[in-house]
Amino acid sequence: MSVVIAIDGPAASGKGTLAKRAALAFGFAHLDTGSLYRAVGMAVLRAGMDPSDAEAAARAAWDLHPEDGILDDPALRTDEAAQAASKVAAVPAVREALLEFQRRFASTPPGDAPGAVLDGRDIGTVVCPSADAKLFVTASVEVRADRRLKELRGRGIPAIPSDVLEDMKARDARDSQRAVAPLRPAADAFVLDTSALDAEQAFAEAIGFIGSKTGLSPRGLKPRA
Ligand code: CDP
Repeated sequence: MSVVIAIDGPAASGKGTLAKRAALAFGFAHLDTGSLYRAVGMAVLRAGMDPSDAEAAARAAWDLHPEDGILDDPALRTDEAAQAASKVAAVPAVREALLEFQRRFASTPPGDAPGAVLDGRDIGTVVCPSADAKLFVTASVEVRADRRLKELRGRGIPAIPSDVLEDMKARDARDSQRAVAPLRPAADAFVLDTSALDAEQAFAEAIGFIGSKTGLSPRGLKPRA
């Protein structure tokens, strides 16, 4: 039985970095489920269609083969892809099409890993409701917009602070108000507000929580002393 860690939260909350580091620390496989929605959003845009077009989005989702390396496409990291992702993500048929791949990843992680860390918006509530440990990573919208701004500028992408903040608010609204699998913490999730924490502090909190829920120590599968 694979150990499953669910990490959810809004955009730029730091959940992706946290998930990656936690997977490494415990020797688990990691799936950034946002990249699935980004890939579907980009596929729709590339086909010259509108990401809000439910039929086009559903078709792109059923046609997606994440095993083919498509999730590594750098174009998925753009803001254009993020906005398209949050539109296709509101389509129930898209979520349904992506469900099986995510659940399979959790139950039989690639590389025979003993566990999987999945990060997204609905991992603890819908995809893996019986995950061994659930984290909901969040931060104020201003802090998150600031982090995203630094990330964009670090990648040499010019960005206007007020635009980044508005985009963040628009995506938050779409993600938390949609009818299907809206962004919200699971009842049994540990809510980690990183507004006043740096990456190291957030990581230490997360690792401590995962260790306490699974009985695993960060460096492997030894039980905690
Ligand atoms: O990295 P960032 O937090 O900005 O975004 P992401 O995690 O790559 O997700 C992009 C978009 O996909 C989100 O705004 C959500 O609308 C959607 N998404 C989702 O609906 N469910 C998930 N499990 C993951 C992402």
